[in-house]
Order: sequence, then C-alpha cells, then structure tokens
Amino acid sequence: MDQPIRVKNKGQISITLNRNVKTEPLEYNRTEQLKDVRKEYELLKEIEEEMQDLVGLDEVKKIIKEIYAWIIVNKKREEIGLKAGKQVLHMMFKGNPGTGKTTVARLIGKLFRKADILSKGHLIECERADLVGEYIGHTAQKTRDLIKKAIGGILFIDEAYSLGRGGEKDFGKEAIDTLVKHMEDKQHDFILILAGYSREMEYFLSLNPGLESRFPIIIEFPDYTVDQLLEIGKKIVKEKEYVLSYEAERKLREHLLMVKSAVNANRFSNGRYIRNIIEKSIRTQAMRILLNNQFDRNELMTIRSQDLVFPDSSFK
Ligand SMILES: Nc1ncnc2c1ncn2[C@@H]1O[C@H](COP(=O)(O)OP(=O)(O)OP(=O)(O)O)[C@@H](O)[C@H]1O
Ligand SMILES: [Mg+2]
Repeated sequence: MDQPIRVKNKGQISITLNRNVKTEPLEYNRTEQLKDVRKEYELLKEIEEEMQDLVGLDEVKKIIKEIYAWIIVNKKREEIGLKAGKQVLHMMFKGNPGTGKTTVARLIGKLFRKADILSKGHLIECERADLVGEYIGHTAQKTRDLIKKAIGGILFIDEAYSLGRGGEKDFGKEAIDTLVKHMEDKQHDFILILAGYSREMEYFLSLNPGLESRFPIIIEFPDYTVDQLLEIGKKIVKEKEYVLSYEAERKLREHLLMVKSAVNANRFSNGRYIRNIIEKSIRTQAMRILLNNQFDRNELMTIRSQDLVFPDSSFK
C-alpha cells in the first residue's frame, strides 16, 4: 500500500492514496502500478502463511482475506475516481471458551499493521472491571484511558456482554456509551472487537438497538472437533520441540472423545484445555526423566502416555 492516508470519519477507517495520479508520467505510473500489484499479492500470500498456523477456522480465515481484498479494491476504485465504500472495521467475535478469539484478534492486529490499516497493530485486551468504575464519571474516564492506549491497534473487550448486565443504573451502560461515542465521533484510529459467548452476545445486542449495525463484521468461532484439538495439541508440542509418542497420542485422542461427549459445549475450554494438558505433561515428563536419569535426546523430547495426566472433572 503506497503512502496511505487514513481518513477517519465517524469512527470508520477508509484508505486513500496520497499520489496525484493525473500528474505523473505514464511510464512511471505503469511501473508503480506493477510494484503495487506485486506488493499486494505478496502481502496476501504472507497473510495466508501466517494464518496457516491456525488449525481449522476456515470461515475466519476467509473473512480476513475478504476484508483485505475489500480494502485493496476500494483503494483501486478510489484511484480511478469510482466511489469507495466506507469501511467500518469494528468486529464482534462470538464463540465458546478457548475457540481462538484472542489468538485471532492478535493476528488481525499484526496483519492489519502489515497491510497499513493500523499504525501499530497492538492488542489491548480488557474486560468489564477495566472499563467500569465506581462513581459517576469514573467509568467514562477509565474507558477513555483504555481507548487512548489502543490507538493504532485493537481494543479487545472480552465477555463484552457483561457490560450490558445490571440495567440502566449500572455503570456498564456508561462504558458502552463512551465506546460508541469514540467509535463514531472521535475519528480515532483503532478497531474495537467485542468478544463473548454466542448466546450472551446475542442477548447483549438485543439490549442495545443500534449496536449491531456498528459491528458489521460478526465472526462465529465454532467448537473444535477432536481431530482439530489433537492437531492444536501437536502444534503446541512441536513448537516446544517435543513429540508425542504413538501411545500418548492414542491416549489423548481417547480422552478428548470422552470429554467432548461428556461435557456441555459451553463449559469446555477447547484450545486452552489442550494447551493446559500439554503444559502439564511437560512438567510430568521432566520429573519422570529426572527420576530415571535418562537424558538422551530422544527421551528429552518424547512425551509418553504416562506423562499425560487429565483433570478429573471440570474439563476447564
Ligand atoms: N485454531 C487454533 N490453532 C492453534 N491454536 C489454537 C487455535 N485456537 C486456539 N488455540 C490455542 O488455544 C488457546 C486458547 O485460545 P484463545 O485464548 O485464543 O481462546 P479464546 O477464544 O480467546 O478463549 P476465551 O473466550 O476463554 O478467552 C491458545 O493457547 C491458543 O494458542
Ligand atoms: Mg480470550
């Protein structure tokens, strides 16, 4: 993206080019355009590569690429004098615990920074207690401070529906009002992502007519299948330079099949559940090899079935 200027209008972020196309020589223009196309194509490839590390989430990946394509095409349209649509990039993420909402928000920050949609791309993650204060005026101040920190990046509010509880007198409402005001009036360079469990988020939207239209990008995060959970587990293991033995993998698969059938989907913590199991198994393995005095490369790397210890009942 060449010298973009962000025109922030009513909290919407649109991109225009700071290049006067008409006054440039034709030859220069052509080379520049070719460079642009190559750069944009390379960026799309990079975005795809980054997203490959995420297991599943096909719909999410598709939406991120579409947003990117939409921004580029809008820019091209603007260049030749066509109407460019206004881009409201505030989002809502709906999904059960551990389905990758925070991970994807962080990745979007990074990708949007690369694509020059955000100037910094960092993620400020917060929840009700960080926004809501104890006396009149306190909430607006706390919320404004967080928005300030998020400028150039993403303000990610987890369990956002909790702002809607407590009715008219609750300070949560003041937080929502302040957020909406800054999204629309202040023309700040930040993207707001509200995240939470599907059912609660739908209830939250129904409490605030007009909220839904302010979040045109709504992304659903489905629960992971047993195969996807195993794949996530193997990725975590590989990242840490370990391997699961054949028996360990079988034991893990059987356990996941059991848990998925026994636990209510909105109580199961998906990716986080598998990460916790792997992290615990690494500690158990360390104890085992220390006691057995086995420090060869293979043993240092292998997680065996006896290293896998599962939580007994909560599955969180
Ligand atoms: N698609 C995925 N590919 C690889 N790892 C994943 C994926 N989804 C989740 N994880 C892993 O699972 C863990 C939990 O993910 P994350 O924190 O993003 O979930 P969440 O939806 O934000 O959860 P919560 O709603 O409880 O905050 C992280 O450690 C992350 O690395
Ligand atoms: Mg999260």
